[in-house]
Amino acid sequence: MPPDSASFQAWVDDLPKSHGWLQLSPERAYAHAEDGYDAQYGVFAPEEEEGQGLCALLATHGVDTRGPALEIGCGTGRLTYGLARHYPGPDFLITDPSPTFLRLTQKLFESAGPYPARQQFAVLNADDLGLLPPDMFSLIAMRSTLHHILKVEEFIAACARTLRPGGALLMGAEPCESGYILMAAVAQSIAPTLEAAGVELRPEWRKLLKVFTDTVKFYCRRDIDKTTAEDKHLFRVEELGELGAEHGLRLRFFPNATFADYAPPLLPEFENFSVFFLNYLQYCMLFDLEFLKLIRRHMKAQLKYLDDCYRSHVGPVLTGVFLLKKVNGNILT
Ligand SMILES: C[S@@+](CC[C@H](N)C(=O)[O-])C[C@H]1O[C@@H](n2cnc3c(N)ncnc32)[C@H](O)[C@@H]1O
Repeated sequence: MPPDSASFQAWVDDLPKSHGWLQLSPERAYAHAEDGYDAQYGVFAPEEEEGQGLCALLATHGVDTRGPALEIGCGTGRLTYGLARHYPGPDFLITDPSPTFLRLTQKLFESAGPYPARQQFAVLNADDLGLLPPDMFSLIAMRSTLHHILKVEEFIAACARTLRPGGALLMGAEPCESGYILMAAVAQSIAPTLEAAGVELRPEWRKLLKVFTDTVKFYCRRDIDKTTAEDKHLFRVEELGELGAEHGLRLRFFPNATFADYAPPLLPEFENFSVFFLNYLQYCMLFDLEFLKLIRRHMKAQLKYLDDCYRSHVGPVLTGVFLLKKVNGNILT
């Protein structure tokens, strides 16, 4: 066993176990039914692209992968399976606060390997990251999880502490403030535009619009207690860059990219604002197809304006991949 794996295994051996999992935190169910999440966003057949693309980024950016990997908030395993197939290090600790999610992810591994890294599953809440040993992990990977974590500053500091020098924290599918506010601002003009065109808005459509715009406002605000909310934040790239730098992590940000973009066939998923916006309304906010058809027809000019601004470069920034690499020396100077 390589020495890095031996110290990881010694740490794991000392951890409490309960219900078949390593127990780093108390179990906590997801705010919405996990099976419902699975039906909406889940992985029905094991998909490799997200984890494979993440591992390609590790190679391109010279991340040292000789130590264990940790995934936080695995959910239904969308990132997990490909990571298990492609992470070249010796160990892979797969975690979530919800045992139901851990079970759903574990099911993906019923299919044949190979899985180069040995897998372990643990109940872990990101608020407890301070419990992890310093300089232990070469990779901390997350997809669509940072915006669920209450104290982002403390979390980034704890990641920096438990990462080995040369290792990295990679986060994908996080919502970025400017793009989300733009989506909500466009949504604010849907009702007046449709009414001006003679469309009679159903009460349930008005409700969908209000829920969407109120939700974005809630995510954006920083003056309210979000302890009990499941989804919490929107991010500014420069703030995460500064926060990382304070803790010895150097940021590379890939606007509107997904991890899967870096896996074969290397085609970017992001097309333009309109496609992202309409997909978001359909799949995340559950707008019905009839309403979406009216939005597409009557908001054409507004959506085209935004798409035309970004014919030759990627934007507006709605999401992206954050790669924060632990480097030696001061990166603030
Ligand atoms: C939107 S889901 C994303 C799941 C999965 N990573 C994916 O990409 O489909 C958010 C995940 O974060 C987990 N989560 C929520 N709060 C968390 C916390 N404080 N610490 C760790 N994970 C958390 C949830 O249980 C859930 O699995």
